[in-house]
Amino acid sequence: MQIFKVGGAVRDRLLGIPVTDVDRVVVGATTEEMLAQGFRPVGADFPVFLHPKTGEEYALARTERKSGRGYGGFTFHASPGVTLEEDLIRRDLTINAMAEDDQQNLTDPYHGQRDLEARILRHVSPAFAEDPLRVLRVARFAARYASLGFTVAPETLKLMRQLSESGELQALTAERSWKEISRALMEDQPQVFIQVLRDCGALKELMPEVDALFGVPQPEVHHPEIDTGLHTLSVLEQSALHKQPLTVRWACLLHDLGKGLTPEEEWPRHIAHEHTGLKLIKAVNERFKAPKDCQELALLVGKYHTHCHRALELKASTLLELLQSFDVYRRPQRFEEFIGACEMDARGRKGLEQRSYPQADYLRGAAQAAREVAVQPLLEKGFKGPELGEALKRERLKALKAYKDKASA
Ligand code: CTP
Repeated sequence: MQIFKVGGAVRDRLLGIPVTDVDRVVVGATTEEMLAQGFRPVGADFPVFLHPKTGEEYALARTERKSGRGYGGFTFHASPGVTLEEDLIRRDLTINAMAEDDQQNLTDPYHGQRDLEARILRHVSPAFAEDPLRVLRVARFAARYASLGFTVAPETLKLMRQLSESGELQALTAERSWKEISRALMEDQPQVFIQVLRDCGALKELMPEVDALFGVPQPEVHHPEIDTGLHTLSVLEQSALHKQPLTVRWACLLHDLGKGLTPEEEWPRHIAHEHTGLKLIKAVNERFKAPKDCQELALLVGKYHTHCHRALELKASTLLELLQSFDVYRRPQRFEEFIGACEMDARGRKGLEQRSYPQADYLRGAAQAAREVAVQPLLEKGFKGPELGEALKRERLKALKAYKDKASA
């Protein structure tokens, strides 16, 4: 049997990027031979094994054929007669379809190295279309390697468009899609992921609520970039520049969905978009079964982002309501993420990226003032149950009034 490194490990070594995860393909072996050497099978009927010591993946060379809709609809053929070239041709991109042996001798039948040098993401063969998830993968690689100058080949974009228009993306499971989306959002240029999905018509299929933001104007005084879709891309870009966590990036993507629902005659204003957007945010959250913390933050940011922008003008009672809605006493981290997302929203405006955002520290200070109200003295006065809650609220309101007075003095 012959063993080769394949896929991302070869690609990233040639790019000079640290390799994190190594996949190997085994040519000329049977399942029985693998088991006899101590390899552990990954699934009952899939020719992938884990190395007994390193835990790394070793897959028997295989060919694949699509036999139905979605990911389940696959039949594969693995036998000692399947060649390395046959295994590589079923892969997604030329830059992912190279192999190398222990001496780093490259096998590159589909010119991955040429495309690496030319900075092109190009599909290997029409077999690309057999897995619709690859539309998301290509967009993710575009986001990851954008700073190196990579773009999607026009013929690959065309194939991605055909796949998107065929309705095949609807067959993807929430789990597979979310894995790609969440990884793409954590790349350095997550806005490129959304832009590429839009360019091939996949955004309309996957997140029509986000796609609908393109072409929707906002008032130029607040939003020099005008277009809501472009604004959303800039907010995402800022979230990556400021190294925000996934929760914040997800909230950034969805914060303005309500603007896509505004009747044209009301443009460029978007009255109450914070509220109209909530059902859309909920729908996108649920479509991809986003983790609970992502779902929660997206809804809270959607509902309250304009509160944050107007923080310095809010009455003490409104400030208190905001802090209570976030349960800022027990969930300080979530409130910090909310402030982060709102700051990215403010910075994701053309020409205003560097403008200071004093609302952030102001709200941190308000949260601190409310948190410092001690419960003990109220307990000592004999308050309990709902009355204790009311007394705490009164004390917090007092503290917030004092905080406001001090801040404006
Ligand atoms: N692959 C594919 N189609 C998919 C998933 C994977 O063709 N839908 C192939 C590609 O050749 C890829 C390899 O399997 O390079 C390994 O897949 P994976 O580990 O998911 O990705 P990597 O390319 O290693 O990239 P990453 O750095 O994102 O892990």
